[in-house]
Amino acid sequence: MSDLQPADPAPRFDPSIAHPARVYSYWLGGKDHYPADRRAAEEVIRSRPQVVAGARANRAFLARVVRYLAAECGIRQFLDLGTGLPAPGSTDEIAQAIAPDARIVYADNDPLVLIHARALLTGTGRTGHERCDYIDADVRDTATILSGAARALDFAQPIAVLMLALLHFIPFSDRFKINMSMTCGFTSWTCSRRECRAARVPAA
Ligand SMILES: C[S@@+](CC[C@H](N)C(=O)[O-])C[C@H]1O[C@@H](n2cnc3c(N)ncnc32)[C@H](O)[C@@H]1O
Repeated sequence: MSDLQPADPAPRFDPSIAHPARVYSYWLGGKDHYPADRRAAEEVIRSRPQVVAGARANRAFLARVVRYLAAECGIRQFLDLGTGLPAPGSTDEIAQAIAPDARIVYADNDPLVLIHARALLTGTGRTGHERCDYIDADVRDTATILSGAARALDFAQPIAVLMLALLHFIPFSDRFKINMSMTCGFTSWTCSRRECRAARVPAA
């Protein structure tokens, strides 16, 4: 077992410690947070008030990217790393509204995200299409991410890999390894956020 492998959700779940996914949910106006998350979120707002607008702009950017990839580029497979908690305009909702046959695989290492994912994302998903899967893993464990993605995605076909509002949680030394492993893991081309920006999807 990799030392990045998540343990059982129960021991990892501690609502007394602020967690990025829940703090982010607070900034987005979501409901999935605890007092410790709200305190941390408010503390950041006090020192950096633009953080709320930034989080919401990032979310809008995610929607534009997925819409562009599905509608303009014909992408039907998405690997969304760093899922986050449920929020309007998620990858599966946007992609499957355009292409009901789109397949989405999410990955995150947060136990609360895992609980929501089990309820909302896998199986028929929020859109009622049986095209969503979820990997409970640290994104640095790229072997687990790639083998998990292979359960639902066809690696011979294009796959868009999304890493929005994620990489700042990852030590700089690991970012290159993640990018390389993802790029080398696919035999077809991939489309990263960087390439979307190059393709003139309006940035947040
Ligand atoms: C700020 S949220 C972004 C959610 C979504 N991608 C978006 O842009 O709206 C960051 C997510 O990354 C997840 N995350 C942070 N570090 C991670 C890691 N090492 N492995 C997997 N997920 C991670 C957190 O649990 C959280 O759900």
